[in-house]
Amino acid sequence: MKREPDQIVVESPTSIQPSDRARIKGQRAFVVWLTGISGAGKSTLANMLEQHLHAQGMHTALLDGDSLRLGLNKDLGFSDADRCENIRRAAEAAKLMVNAGLVVIVATISPIRSARESARALFGENEFYEVFVDAPIEVAEARDVKGLYALARQGTIRQFTGIGSVYEPPSNVDVHVQTALMSKQACIDVILQKLPIDAG
Ligand code: ADX
Repeated sequence: MKREPDQIVVESPTSIQPSDRARIKGQRAFVVWLTGISGAGKSTLANMLEQHLHAQGMHTALLDGDSLRLGLNKDLGFSDADRCENIRRAAEAAKLMVNAGLVVIVATISPIRSARESARALFGENEFYEVFVDAPIEVAEARDVKGLYALARQGTIRQFTGIGSVYEPPSNVDVHVQTALMSKQACIDVILQKLPIDAG
């Protein structure tokens, strides 16, 4: 397809590279992408993980699905197309942060496998770690921390993940934690083992 001159975009070269920005922080930059149904424990684990990394002196950022939907993604709903766009924007935001040298934790349901794979494709090898935060829907529904499962069962919320909308579990995941079977700390320990950081 012929492109109009105003559609030609070429990335500007920069003198300082992403690895330079990470090096000045004494860290490697990467993304930890937590995926799982509502109530599986993503935000809890994301928060604990950030606390741990922060205590190790790492410069982190946390992109949580609910927070993103209050700002950057506030125009998006919960159709499959909107969820894909939600994931794309979260991934692009994470990419900017990785380029800035940060360790980025993303916690979104991100229910569509191909959209998660597209997110991964933005990053280099050893820059993207997908964590499946796994809990049976019965357990997540029994927890119902936000009361949303009840609203979904009543029909007040349609397209709720796991009820009116699909969740596609990862097939080739970097880390798999089962929050109904493992303690929170055990989940964090399993995740930390996979990350490119010094133990401690
Ligand atoms: S995603 O599917 O597009 O990745 P995301 O993680 O951004 O979802 O947002 C999920 C949050 O939105 C949930 O934690 C919940 O608080 C809220 N929410 C509201 N409606 C829905 C819905 N239909 N399905 C899932 N989550 C919903």
